[in-house]
Amino acid sequence: MIRLLQIKRNDFDMHPSSSVVYCRGLMKGFGSGPTAVRALRGVDLDVRGGEILMIMGPSGCGKTTLLSVISTLLDPDSGTCVVLGRDLARMTPLERARFRCATVGFVFQRFNLLPGVSILDNVTVPLLIGGHSRNHAESRAVKILDELGLRDRTSASPNELSGGQQQRVAIARALVHNPKLIVCDEPTSALDQTTGQMVMETLHAQARQTDRAVIVVTHDARIMNYADRIVRMEDGAIISCNDAVELEMPS
Ligand SMILES: Nc1ncnc2c1ncn2[C@@H]1O[C@H](COP(=O)(O)OP(=O)(O)OP(=O)(O)O)[C@@H](O)[C@H]1O
Ligand SMILES: [Mg+2]
Repeated sequence: MIRLLQIKRNDFDMHPSSSVVYCRGLMKGFGSGPTAVRALRGVDLDVRGGEILMIMGPSGCGKTTLLSVISTLLDPDSGTCVVLGRDLARMTPLERARFRCATVGFVFQRFNLLPGVSILDNVTVPLLIGGHSRNHAESRAVKILDELGLRDRTSASPNELSGGQQQRVAIARALVHNPKLIVCDEPTSALDQTTGQMVMETLHAQARQTDRAVIVVTHDARIMNYADRIVRMEDGAIISCNDAVELEMPS
């Protein structure tokens, strides 16, 4: 089976309550005066339950900014962003922080692991913040680290790991609390082909549950066959959004 990509153009016909993520007219700028940057210039986006949506585009086009707004880490200047039926603008900062802890798992472009504490402790953080017992948090963390091929490194600290191993720890931390929205910024950039596939299989298994979705920013053509849809950004705007369509090809 070969997947051919970018066949069918999407229309934005979703309703906030039927999408995992629903964005309309998102604007975000940084700075002022001659050095001001308009990072998002009116982004409309729907992310459906049960899908992996990939976002591609040149460096500086606004991908990380968009992920940061969707995952409630950054407030937009204007526009609407509804995540799992909750309008982010209508939540207090505390409500947003609680919502983020319970609902969103993210893999940062620069991993953001806690230095000087073990891999196991890094991965248990979302569960401990969510009020789970240490026993539960550790057994769940070991399970996910095992799935990602890191069971024998649980007591290492991040600086003792390779870049690819650190990236997998970041992915384990994003998944450990079983979030409904998983947001990944370049999750396979430091991984070889085999490990990248393993990570994408793990994300794929998460996305197959209809009440959740995975958003992946990537430049990595090797993982594009995992996309259900591909969004292309340029200069702070979405310029295309296409379904990936599976076609049976003669071998
Ligand atoms: N905190 C910030 N302060 C000032 N400018 C910022 C900030 N964050 C992002 N920008 C600017 O906003 C624009 C979009 O940045 P963003 O990080 O979203 O791009 P990107 O598409 O993720 O790029 P890359 O592929 O290199 O990661 C860039 O011009 C960047 O310099
Ligand atoms: Mg980025």
